[in-house]
Amino acid sequence: MKATTSRTDGLKDFHNKIVYITGGSSGIGLEIARLMVSKGAHVALFARNPEKLERARNEIMNAKHDSSQKITAIPVDITDMKNVSRNMDEAVKQFGKPDILINCAGIVKADYFENISYEDFDAVMKTNVYGARNMIAALLPSMKGKGGHIVNVSSAAGLMSMFSYTAYGTSKFALVGFSDCLRSEMKLHNIDVSVVCPPEVKTPMNQEEAKTMPPEALAVKGLAGVLKPEYVAKTVVKGILKKKFLIIPGFKCRFLYITQKLSPGWLSRAISDSAIRSAVRKISRTR
Ligand SMILES: NC(=O)c1ccc[n+]([C@@H]2O[C@H](COP(=O)([O-])OP(=O)(O)OC[C@H]3O[C@@H](n4cnc5c(N)ncnc54)[C@H](OP(=O)(O)O)[C@@H]3O)[C@@H](O)[C@H]2O)c1
Repeated sequence: MKATTSRTDGLKDFHNKIVYITGGSSGIGLEIARLMVSKGAHVALFARNPEKLERARNEIMNAKHDSSQKITAIPVDITDMKNVSRNMDEAVKQFGKPDILINCAGIVKADYFENISYEDFDAVMKTNVYGARNMIAALLPSMKGKGGHIVNVSSAAGLMSMFSYTAYGTSKFALVGFSDCLRSEMKLHNIDVSVVCPPEVKTPMNQEEAKTMPPEALAVKGLAGVLKPEYVAKTVVKGILKKKFLIIPGFKCRFLYITQKLSPGWLSRAISDSAIRSAVRKISRTR
């Protein structure tokens, strides 16, 4: 059944808002969905695996504010433009035009560059960059008329370079650039754009990447802090309300980013190289 929406100007709260979330079946996306539901929004979840999606939908039902709230879960592969177009047309017909689109779906591959195949690199770029692009392209015609907010979930790895992230970091830097270019264009349509750059977050993704992440990277990864998905979700919601463009969850991560921004490039690279060198020394002592 179609969800009804109340206001189109400025998103002061989320009551009755229609929120589309990719990657809504797991981790950060699921927590954002839960929080949005608890604030009275109608939420549509998108991801590939239908069973995981249904489990997520049932889970966030408990967070509902009132019985009129709608929650739907639609399987979609964001890398496939035809699949995205078809499913978004159907979602808009059935559920209503989104007030807020949150592009949270993503995948990671953390390894030495020489171990990252063309196919791995391609999959990371197609999901993390083209995925957000495809969703926006499919939904923009419906959002243009009423205004709203687009949120792209990038990463601290989209602001600061990191060992073993030649695929993932490239995709997340690209997503930050894409969001910044999009921001000024969307202003003309009364659509705000935010990009979220969290440090490490405890989710299934970060457990998965640990399987192939080289020890040098593991040794420096926690420097920007480790957060819970619930905390990231709260920061995202606050950021949307304040219409912030760049949302960096966690004090440590913000501090590291500002310090890096203010320092000359050679200095932050020298600090990073020295941290890696000391990690390598530690690793060779324990072998
Ligand atoms: N966890 C971290 O440390 C961390 C840190 C910074 C930024 N991030 C970013 O935060 C976002 C969420 O990450 P997470 O940690 O919450 O990961 P997660 O728990 O692994 O969730 C990823 C979500 O994306 C969906 N997805 C993956 N590929 C897809 C595709 N082709 N089409 C549609 N949906 C797809 C997954 O569902 P299906 O597999 O069923 O499709 C799942 O719902 C990602 O963009 C990630 O890069 C994560």
